[in-house]
Amino acid sequence: MVMAIVLVLIVVGSVLFHLFSPWWTTPLASNWQTMDDTLTITLVITGIFFVAINLFVVYALIRYRHREGRPRAAHEPENRALERWLIIGTSVGIAALLAPGLVVYANYVRSPPDALVLEVLGLQWQWHYRFPGADGKLGATDARFVQGGNPFGIDPSDAAGQDDLLVASNEVHLPLGKPVLVLIRSHDVLHDFYVPPFRARMNSVPGQVSRFWFTPTVAGRYEALCAQLCGVGHPNMRGFVVVEEPAAFQAWQAALPTFAKTQVKAAPAPAPEGAAGAGARVEQGRALAESKGCVACHTIDGTPRVGPTWKGLYGKTETMEDGARALVDEAYLRSFISDPTARRVKGFPPVMPKMDLSQEELDALVAYIQSLGSAPAQAATEQKEKAPR
Ligand code: CUA
Repeated sequence: MVMAIVLVLIVVGSVLFHLFSPWWTTPLASNWQTMDDTLTITLVITGIFFVAINLFVVYALIRYRHREGRPRAAHEPENRALERWLIIGTSVGIAALLAPGLVVYANYVRSPPDALVLEVLGLQWQWHYRFPGADGKLGATDARFVQGGNPFGIDPSDAAGQDDLLVASNEVHLPLGKPVLVLIRSHDVLHDFYVPPFRARMNSVPGQVSRFWFTPTVAGRYEALCAQLCGVGHPNMRGFVVVEEPAAFQAWQAALPTFAKTQVKAAPAPAPEGAAGAGARVEQGRALAESKGCVACHTIDGTPRVGPTWKGLYGKTETMEDGARALVDEAYLRSFISDPTARRVKGFPPVMPKMDLSQEELDALVAYIQSLGSAPAQAATEQKEKAPR
């Protein structure tokens, strides 16, 4: 009897929880109402079966409970009629669960012909984006072209790739109300580009291009997260999608560099001088740490993550895996960032990816890390800066 009451309470509690739970999906910001409908259908069907099966157990517990003098229940291992009905019932139930999903998925990967093409590139542990240029075609890519200055691996000999617009940061903009075809690639392992309010996600699989489409229907800034466990930096592999009016999107897109432009070696910008210049360099370094995904593994508040925190790192003495010790100074940071696997710091996995940084970017990043260093180290640096050159 106690069992029966507990079961009834579980059933009633579960139904009430689902009806009144504050943890439901975020408001929809795309055309994929059918995703939500499919979820609702699944929940209703499984919910009905959950209630029916548990209430049947409650009924059997009460109806056939043990009492003195009553005959025992008969053991009936074979019942063809019942088995037939169970097979038919579960088959219909499973078909009803799967069919709506198949229909929605078919629509999900079949994009409208006028869709804006956006390529999403996942790599440990950052997101990059690419748009086709004026020709409307994305240039061919191959892993063997991935190197310093060509993080997307675009084929330099493909004319279609020259005008491709590159976003080498984790934030992309999209125009409101226009269908977007998303093509997804990965440079290393399995990732999954997922923007919950769009109800849209797709695995990025090394060696293949996967696809889906959606139309953003509400302006805003949405977080894109990686939904496949892809290594130690996975929880911090975040991106952002900004949905805005088409005019604002066009202005943003017009400022993006083309692939051809990124291949022209720019003359090194004159290093900013004086205190104001140093401040600008630190600020540039902070922005770089954000856009290059460094912040996925390095905090600035002293908490260790995948890599060492940058708070107090500069001026500290690090111990290597082989017991050697090294002072973290400018030269150390430069050589480590340029070739992260050359030495192994004790206590940290050797997972830091090689960044493609220009000399100017490397200066800025080192200046930023330096600005977060320990007080004596900073003072010593300032002394050095003040000294006549
Ligand atoms: Cu990329 Cu998880």
